[in-house]
This record gives sequence, C-alpha cells and structure tokens, in this order.
Amino acid sequence: MLKMRGVEVSYGKICALHGVDLEIRSGEIVTLIGANGAGKSTLLMAISGLARPIQGCIEFLGEEIQALPPNRIVERGISQVPEGRRIFPQLTVRENLELGAFCRHDPQGVRDDLAYVFSLFPILASRSQQLGGTLSGGEQQMLAISRALMARPSLLLLDEPSLGLAPIVIRQIFSIIQKINQEHKTTVFLVEQNANLALKVASRGYVLENGRVTMTDSADNLLRHEGVRQAYLGV
Ligand SMILES: Nc1ncnc2c1ncn2[C@@H]1O[C@H](COP(=O)(O)OP(=O)(O)O)[C@@H](O)[C@H]1O
Ligand SMILES: [Mg+2]
Repeated sequence: MLKMRGVEVSYGKICALHGVDLEIRSGEIVTLIGANGAGKSTLLMAISGLARPIQGCIEFLGEEIQALPPNRIVERGISQVPEGRRIFPQLTVRENLELGAFCRHDPQGVRDDLAYVFSLFPILASRSQQLGGTLSGGEQQMLAISRALMARPSLLLLDEPSLGLAPIVIRQIFSIIQKINQEHKTTVFLVEQNANLALKVASRGYVLENGRVTMTDSADNLLRHEGVRQAYLGV
C-alpha cells in the first residue's frame, strides 16, 4: 500500500531522515518505535506532505506522492493524527469533526462517518457542542483520532497517541485503534515511544535510530529481541 525508498529529509543543516526504506501493506497495523528525536514525527510528516523529502520516493497505492501538497494526500486516503493532538480549542467538538471532512463532497457519507465516530467514542457525542479546548487530554486524543477518521482514510497515521495520558485511557484508545483496523479495514501506521504497548497491537514494527531504520521484524520477534528490550522496553 505504502512504500518509502531512500527517503531523506533535512531541516537546514540537520539531516533528520537518512535514506529510509519502509513498507506498509493493506490492512496491517505497523508500528514505528524509536527514542525522542529519532525522526519518527518527521517520517510521518514526509508521508503526509508536511515535510518535503530532498531525496527518495514515497509511493501510495502505486503512485508517487512525495511532491503532492498535503490536501491532495488527504484526498488520496492518508490522514494523520498529529503529535500533541492539535485540535482547534476554540471550535466545538462537532466543528472540529466537520473540519476533518473538509475535502469531501459526499454529505451522506460525512453524516454516516460522524455517526460512526460517535459510536466509537460516545463521550464525544455527548460533548458535541463543547469547545475542544475544554476537553480532557484523553478526550482531545479521541477527538483528534475522530477528526482524522472524518476524512475516511484508508491509511491512518498516528503520532504518539499515548503521550501524556493515563494508563486506563491509553488502553481504551488502543483498543479502539484495533477496532478501527478490524471493522473498518483501515490500515494503521502507529508511531510510539511506548514500544511495549505499540508492539502488542501491531503485527510488524520498524525501529528508527538517528534517522535510520535499524531493524524491522514481526512485533512478536521485536518484543523478544534483547536489544529492543533493553533500549525500548526497559527490561
Ligand atoms: N522544525 C524543525 N526544525 C529543525 N529541526 C527539527 C525540526 N523538527 C525536528 N527537528 C529535528 O529533527 C530530528 C527528528 O525530530 P522528530 O522527527 O521530531 O523526532 P521524534 O518524533 O522521533 O521525536 C531531531 O533532531 C529534531 O531536533
Ligand atoms: Mg515525535
């Protein structure tokens, strides 16, 4: 579904990604784990068109997308839940969700998807007129995921959805991510520092160190790998 070949991204003199190769197949949950500063967010932004590769190619459903503007990439079926959620605090829950559907021209489909995200996260339905900024951290993450789903993506990119949330909320959000993948056949690319959790919901994983993919394997093998355990699982 998605193929990255030799992708390089720089911020001025700082090279954040050095020739990344990666592949995501339709229907999978794939995780990217790595320390703070490894380049995880940059890699997601390269896919969604928010960071421009200076070299390499990104193919989605057989077509190159690395030169497309972000809105065209959303239209092709990729939407991103950014790190730190980035919901619009002065807009209501419902307005935030409507913005997620800005590129669509099928009002009935948008209404169906609104009902779908409200069924996934009933709390958002009961808070639909509340301002986004007044939601708790967990509710804001639910809103950010729902807003991304409103574009009806075939590939959902999640940047550290567990960041700063209580364990019980994290479990709830991760079980919904699995549900979206199973029921809606949405392919998921999950970026996490919480490797233990990510490797439990994903089928495969990549390890990113200093802008380079240093390992890729099944999630089970990565969970058992001594180097991964020491570096990312704290055991
Ligand atoms: N806008 C930016 N300008 C300059 N350097 C940046 C910018 N964003 C990220 N970086 C640098 O790029 C590297 C990778 O950052 P990032 O992709 O945010 O890593 P991660 O998400 O894994 O924590 C880091 O060294 C970071 O300091
Ligand atoms: Mg990041």
